[in-house]
Amino acid sequence: MNWNKGIRQVHRWLSIIFTATVAANFIAMALGEPPAWVVYSPLPPLFLLLFSGLYMFVLPYVTGRRATQTG
Ligand code: HEM
Repeated sequence: MNWNKGIRQVHRWLSIIFTATVAANFIAMALGEPPAWVVYSPLPPLFLLLFSGLYMFVLPYVTGRRATQTG
């Protein structure tokens, strides 16, 4: 199992969850005043996206040419 590929996969699925929570916010706001947990629900996935995204960003600079990228 390739660790870096796993992080990319996590980032990909987190982005779907994040998008769903943002969409849920629009729907909830159209229906009236949304509860606080709906309003803040995008923040945990966004927080995790930040770290998995930053990890993917620095990866090529840290590994240089040593790592062979597959997929
Ligand atoms: C919060 C800070 C974020 C950072 C620092 C970040 C950073 C990155 C980086 C560096 C990549 C890899 C690009 C490459 O191929 O070299 C990436 C891929 C990606 N990001 Fe983010 N990202 C962030 C948030 C988000 C958000 C909010 C979304 C969507 C809701 C998102 C969706 C994606 C997707 C779909 C990919 C492609 C993943 C794949 O190749 O399977 N990211 N991101």
